Amino acid sequence: LENGLMRTPPMGWLAWERFRCDTDCLTDPDNCISEHLFMEMADRLSEDGWRELGYVYINIDDCWSSMLRDSQGRLQADPKRFPRGIAHLAQYVHDRGLKLGIYGDMGTHTCGGYPGTTLDKIQTDAQTFADWGIDMLKLDGCYSNSSYQEQGYPMMSKALNATGRPIGYSCSWPAYQGGLPPKVNYTLLAQICNLWRNYGDIQDSWDSVLNIVDWFFDNQDVLQPAAGPGQWNDPDMLIIGDFGLSMDQSRAQMALWAIMAAPLFMSNDLRTISSGARAILQNKIAIGINQDRLGIQGRRLIKEKKSGMEVFWRPLAKGASALVFLSRRSDMPYRYMTSLKELSYKTGVYEAYDVFSERLLPQLKDSTEFVVSVNPSGVVMWYIYPVAEWKKEAGP
Ligand code: DGJ
Repeated sequence: LENGLMRTPPMGWLAWERFRCDTDCLTDPDNCISEHLFMEMADRLSEDGWRELGYVYINIDDCWSSMLRDSQGRLQADPKRFPRGIAHLAQYVHDRGLKLGIYGDMGTHTCGGYPGTTLDKIQTDAQTFADWGIDMLKLDGCYSNSSYQEQGYPMMSKALNATGRPIGYSCSWPAYQGGLPPKVNYTLLAQICNLWRNYGDIQDSWDSVLNIVDWFFDNQDVLQPAAGPGQWNDPDMLIIGDFGLSMDQSRAQMALWAIMAAPLFMSNDLRTISSGARAILQNKIAIGINQDRLGIQGRRLIKEKKSGMEVFWRPLAKGASALVFLSRRSDMPYRYMTSLKELSYKTGVYEAYDVFSERLLPQLKDSTEFVVSVNPSGVVMWYIYPVAEWKKEAGP
């Protein structure tokens, strides 16, 4: 969507995967969906080095609202859990140099059963969000149908624009249409939304990460060209720092989300996150690759059934690129041998920086055979740049 927003994939924190629809503030006050939770996360984002790295959105998901609209038909926050209202929360977030995202549903109800945005309420809700100072809207698609969504998602895009407030727009529309053409028209979608969920929800497990990775790269011929500045495929939240991934698997999610030019929305508890998980999420080179200004989504180059090895590549600004070597094995570190030439690199001399071991490797020619040792369910990620033209194509 050409609204000037999200020229690189948006980054921040989103409540859903980690905190779901916990509304029990009586017995679980620190984890329930409430202004307290979002204020604490905003404090962490601004005080623990996240904001400076680009993690600026703090996003509310389902279960924030009252079950009833107000007397004028507007959505309102649950008065017990958000006693000071969303506008106050937006102010709190803005005071810390962050942006606030909110959640709605293009249908009669949200997936959690809260009021949805029916067609007749689109303008009202867009205006309410703008009045509150909201910076991003995720519009879900439960309790709806194809024709309803076909009307509603573009209408909301126009309505948000008409408020005059810059509001990033995340559409779950394609996820509800199976994510693929002919049902999903990615050319149209990119004119309507800044990002879109293509596929099912991530869960806190490595299986879930692999399932998402498989779907996105199996369908890369359709999905990869759809992405670019202002328009991103969204494979869902980062679960790094939660309970389901080992450190190697966490590096793998970070690396693959960087290759995919994916939005980086963490869903974790920033109050108690381990230093290991934090280091992965705060890895500057991995973030830099994700945020590359060209905004070209990467691709899977190789998938070897037999060895369980896969290789991913993403072109970056200034002739640089990123490579990820993924092992799906479960035995021991696998020694994968290849050369840049085999991975279709041009003739030349290259320098490679190992993103997670933070080491510059010896220079290599395109033809140099090298071995990377990749841990089970782990990755090696390289940032690569040409040292100089090795040899111009031989002329006559
Ligand atoms: C389905 C979405 O895909 C999830 O990310 C989350 O927003 C839930 N709905 C909330 O009910």
